[in-house]
This record gives sequence, C-alpha cells and structure tokens, in this order.
Amino acid sequence: MKRNRNCGEILETDIGSSMTIAGWVFRRRDHGGLIFIDLRDRSGICQVVFSPDASGGAHEKAHDLRAEYVIAVTGEVRKRPEGTENINLPTGMTELYVKDLEVLNEAAPLPYSMEEAADAGEALRLRHRYLDLRRPEMQRNFIIRHKVTKLIRDFLDEKGFIEIETPMLTKSTPEGARDYLVPSRLNPGHFYALPQSPQLFKQILMVAGMEKYFQIVKCFRDEDLRADRQPEFTQIDLEMSFIDRKDIIELVEAMMKKLFSEALGIDISTPFERLSFQESMERFGNDKPDMRFGLELKDMADLAGRGSFKVFLDALQSGGMVKAINAKGMAGISRKDIDVLTTEAQSFGAKGLAWIKVRNGFESPIAKFFPEDALKAMAARLEAEDGDMMLFVADKPKITYDVLSRLRLELGRKLDLIHPGYKFVWITDFPLLEWDDEEGRFQAMHHPFTSAVDNDIERIMNGDLSDRAMLGSVKAKAYDIVLNGFEIGGGSIRIHNQKVQKRMFELLKIQEEEAGAKFGFLLEALQYGAPPHGGLALGLDRLVMLMVGATSIRDVIAFPKTQKAFCMMSGAPSAVEPKQLRELHIRSAAAVENKA
Ligand code: AMO
Ligand code: AMP
Repeated sequence: MKRNRNCGEILETDIGSSMTIAGWVFRRRDHGGLIFIDLRDRSGICQVVFSPDASGGAHEKAHDLRAEYVIAVTGEVRKRPEGTENINLPTGMTELYVKDLEVLNEAAPLPYSMEEAADAGEALRLRHRYLDLRRPEMQRNFIIRHKVTKLIRDFLDEKGFIEIETPMLTKSTPEGARDYLVPSRLNPGHFYALPQSPQLFKQILMVAGMEKYFQIVKCFRDEDLRADRQPEFTQIDLEMSFIDRKDIIELVEAMMKKLFSEALGIDISTPFERLSFQESMERFGNDKPDMRFGLELKDMADLAGRGSFKVFLDALQSGGMVKAINAKGMAGISRKDIDVLTTEAQSFGAKGLAWIKVRNGFESPIAKFFPEDALKAMAARLEAEDGDMMLFVADKPKITYDVLSRLRLELGRKLDLIHPGYKFVWITDFPLLEWDDEEGRFQAMHHPFTSAVDNDIERIMNGDLSDRAMLGSVKAKAYDIVLNGFEIGGGSIRIHNQKVQKRMFELLKIQEEEAGAKFGFLLEALQYGAPPHGGLALGLDRLVMLMVGATSIRDVIAFPKTQKAFCMMSGAPSAVEPKQLRELHIRSAAAVENKA
C-alpha cells in the first residue's frame, strides 16, 4: 500500500473518492462497533473509521492497534455525520472509511503519552527526542526554521552574496568563551579548536576578494549554558567589503522584513529604532532591552542627595548611583511580598531594595529621610501616581543596572505590561574596550578585530596606552541587533590596516609572539591589500525561537544538549577506548582517577 495523499490534506472535495494514507496512530476510540483513529503524519490529522460492515477484516485487526503504531489505510472519504464535525481541524468535515489496513510497524508502550508530551519532564523528552519531535508544535518549529534558512539563502543570493564554508578543525577565535579542542593524531600534543565563529576566515575571504560572503554555520563555545545558549549553535554569518555600518544595518533590516513577512505573514516596519549603548544602559539597565514595554529606569542621584538616608548617600559618595523604577499599581502589596521582591533583588546582587509607596502621600520607612518636595520630585520623575510604588537600588553602576534591569523584566511579566509582537532595536556606539578588573587590563568589548570610530583611531595610534579614561571612552564601529530583549546578532566594521590591528593587540596586552601565534595568518593577510570590510552574525537559533514563540532555543534545535552539555539521547560525551587515547597521545587524568 502506498499513500497517495497526506493525512492533513483530505478535503470536502474528496468526498466519495478512494484514498490511501499512512502515518502514526495518534488517538484511538473504541465505540463498541465503530473504532475511530486519528491518524497523524507531518501534514496533520485525519479521522479514520473502522466499521464491522465496511471494513470487515480491517476492523478486526484495528482492535490491536496501539498508540504510535505505523499504519497505512485505504478507504473512502465520507462526509462526517451531522453534529460530529470538528471545525478546529482542517480535515474536520470528513473521515476515511477504511476498507484495507496494513500495519507497517508496531510501537512499544510509550514512556509518556503523546497527548501529555508537552508536560512530560524535559529529561524524558530529550532522551526520546524522536517522540518529542513527532509533536505537531515541534514539527511546526522545524518547518519554520527550514523556511527561514531558505529565505535567507535566497535573499542573500539575490544581493550577490556567495556561501563559502570555512574549516571546523581550526585555531582558536576569540569570541570570549572557552574553546572545544580536538586532539591531532598526526601532530602529537597539538590540538585543533572548533570555531567559536568563522571571524578570522571571513575577514580573510574579504582580503581574498570575495566581497560578499555568507555562511549558515555551526559555532562551538564552551560556556555556561542557559535557555538561549547552547554549546553548539548556528550563526547566519556575513561579511562585506567596501561598505559602512549603514549598509549592514539596512541589509539586515531588509532581510528581517522578508523573513517575517514570508515565513510568518507578519509585517514589521523598518528602519528599526536605534539606541546608543549608553542610552540603553541608562534607560533599561542593559544592552539588550525589551522595548515592548516601558517601566524605564530613572536616575535619582540628585534627589537622593537631598535627603539623609545613609545607604543612598554612601553609595553616591563612593562613586555609585541611585536609580529607581515605578512598580505600577503595586502600592497595595504586603510587607511579606515586599520581602519577596527584596530577596529577589538580593539574589540579583543588590544589597537591598528601598521602596516608597505613593498612597495618600508617601508611605515608607525611608520617607522620613527626605523633604516632602524631594519625594514629590521623585514621584514626578517616575510618573508615579497614587497606587504606585517606587523601587530604589543604590550601588555600583554595574550592580545597580543589573538588578534594576532584571527587576524591570520581572515586574513587566508580573504586571502583564509586555505587549505581544516584535520589537527590534539596534544598539550602537559601544565602547571599543572594557576594563577587566580581575586581569588588570582592557578586553575588547566585541572582539579584537573591531575598528574604532574614525575620530578615535588617531587617539589609539598615538595616545598614551596607560590613560585608562581616554581608552575607556573610545567608541567602536560595532552594532548589536536586539529582538524582544534577546541579542539576536552583532557585528562591526573591522580593522583592515595591519598597523592598527597590531596596535589593538598591544593595547589589549596581547604580546607580539602571542598575537603572531594566534592571529599571525590574519596579520600577514592584512598587509597584502585588505579592503575595508565589516559584517555581522545573527544567532539563527535565537531568531527562530522568537519567531515561533518558544521560550528556549532547545525547542528549535533538533538534538540539543542539557545544561551540562550532555546529549540525553546519544549519551555524548562519553568515555572512549584506551587505544583511541593512546593514538591521540593523550592520557586522561579523569580516567586515571576513576581506576584508582
Ligand atoms: P557574537 O559572539 O555576538 O558575534 O555572536 C553572534 C550571535 O550568535 C548568537 N550566539 C549564541 N546563540 C546560542 N548559543 C550560544 N552559545 C551563542 N553565542 C552567541 C547570539 C549572538 O548575537 N564573529 C562575531 C560576529 C561578527 O563580528 O561579525 C560573533 O560571533 O545571537
Ligand atoms: P537598612 O538601613 O539596612 O535597614 O535598610 C533600609 C532599607 O533600605 C531596606 O528596605 C533595605 O532593603 C534598603 N536598602 C539597603 N541597602 C540598599 C541599597 N544598596 N539600595 C537600595 N536599597 C537598599
């Protein structure tokens, strides 16, 4: 029996004709004489009916069908009897009256029922990923992911980009994470690194005159995992020559417009909003703001300074800040709930959370420390009205921003302030460098190949490299694209001049030998006529996650890993044969410990 139609594509116009369909037994109802089966394939579900008179032997066999058996059936498409139609199903007006049944394969009793699959524990779902992927919601995610990658390839092809593969067995690229290393059998004691990104290769492709490169490419980063981070993930990586920031930004906006329109039927308006890094920090407390709601941070230093609350004054005096948000309509909450909020703020790193309720005046243990007009000015700045509650954090900038940006998101969710839909924003004017207290040196905020803005290049080339304030104020030609509070991509215009690149390594305290050993091939290439160039990489998994409305990138990656970077299905990583290790010239300390 070979199917001649998909389950989800049987329509009223087919009534009266004979069809063969195949798929998995989804639901089964035994109504005495009649047996109903919802047969499922990738296209959808068709109700299949076995009756003792129409299907004789098939009806007999149908008693033995169990969940997820694979079957093929031939029968007549009939209109469902009045009152039994299902308007929620595209095939809900019809059913297939079976004449013939073939069981293509049986299925062992399932570890969880398909109908309750969404509620089964994630560990179980990941272990039996093939069952999880059978769910229509999951199949939809992967169909959309496929459409997105196809649209991207078509779009970039039309714009003159060519897709070029770069090596997986390569050298370390500094994107800020740990490398995954692969030992070399032929070069004892030497290792390849799996790419954290194709950054160096794509720049070299520009030196090679390819002009417009892209690649949909796996990247590998050994870092702490989260809902939006996997050890291997996919980038839409691109690079162009003879362009500026504006060209990349416009290209990506046009690409997003096409993706959302053609994959989801959603019209998004361009150009996207733009915020400088500094403005984003001041208003939202981070550089990936969710712009779908307000609840912005307000600076309270001047007003806090007019009171006598020691916590605020101490923070200001030691170079910290006092910032606040308005917890809209929360003046009614109990002391106990305030304690919960405070504990939450403390778990984000705050020392405490000061609050002032606006309710028949100002209600707060700290109100007494401030003159009435300062309290009124605080309320005015936060647009706090009767019934609202002002929340304050006083600390070092990093902690203040971090705590309030997280509280803002938390309250946005709790108070149901987040509008559905998609809000893109570009973050621009990043600092080029970020001071690393632990290491006592600057780090590149994006990566060491990012160019400073034109006016600042001179300062880098000829300025005093011990002048921290000067270096800290240098701006980069870098940009991030943020969607609904997630960084979905980032890029920059690159340094294309070898001298400037060398100077950059110098100010990052990357010694000449180290720079030579790690990036020598790029430095060498830069001296042979490197064109001005720049690019960006989008996180495909994050983008698709947001497009399908998932809350974790695991839902758009076919075989993802757990928090411990473990594959529940295949059991990777795993121990290997001692012989394999010997061939690789490796002795594992862990294995030795295990034996002892
Ligand atoms: P960056 O490091 O910002 O830039 O990475 C680009 C985008 O990749 C996504 N991403 C991840 N997604 C899932 N899991 C991860 N572990 C993960 N890490 C990053 C993010 C991020 O915005 N070479 C530069 C790009 C360039 O300069 O052109 C780069 O890799 O969405
Ligand atoms: P205390 O003076 O420690 O009793 O704190 C009084 C109030 O200020 C409490 O509500 C604390 O949670 C809050 N508080 C303490 N430290 C800070 C801080 N760094 N920022 C904001 N509020 C704080």
